[in-house]
Amino acid sequence: MLNIGVLISGGGTNLQAIIDGCENKTINGRVKVVISSKAEAYGLERAKKHNIKAIYEKEEDKIIEILKENEVDLVVLAGYLKIISPKLVNGYKNKIINIHPSLIPAFCGKGYYGQKVHQGVIDYGAKVSGATVHFVDEEADTGPIIMQKTVEVKQDDDVKKLAARVLKVEHEILTKSIGLFCEDKLTVNSRRVYINE
Ligand code: GRF
Repeated sequence: MLNIGVLISGGGTNLQAIIDGCENKTINGRVKVVISSKAEAYGLERAKKHNIKAIYEKEEDKIIEILKENEVDLVVLAGYLKIISPKLVNGYKNKIINIHPSLIPAFCGKGYYGQKVHQGVIDYGAKVSGATVHFVDEEADTGPIIMQKTVEVKQDDDVKKLAARVLKVEHEILTKSIGLFCEDKLTVNSRRVYINE
């Protein structure tokens, strides 16, 4: 059973989906530690409620130490708002998964995070949006894509409505992707990720 380390910065609904996935066995893994870059992140409370180690830490060297101490096999960035360094990326090559609330390569990269993503989609007039799960490489939101799922952008959508619709899909494809990783069913060949169901 793999040890999962989850990095967060906020409410932690994606973290909750991972915890639930481990508990209902759709993920053959356990969340060993949750590390937040914000002391007040509600995601830390979610971890504590499930007796999971919950740590507020901003220093990346200390984060790497905590991941090693907890023998983490898979790092998941779940609403984590900092760009991680090449040191952390290379320490966990193709073992860091990120969830992004758009269809990469659209509406991603510098300045596109949280609500700003959905505002960009609405302002552009896009007709579909969605979520992307990908492996993390040294740039922002550019690693090999594991899974994507679309949602309709409705004519009366505002950021709140679109964000809520995309968030549901984030939870779904993030838990599925982590489940596949924990079953060793993902292979990466350059930019392509193959799912061996
Ligand atoms: C989600 O849209 C996630 O993709 C983005 O932050 C939002 C909140 O995530 N990075 P969570 O509820 O903290 O998991």
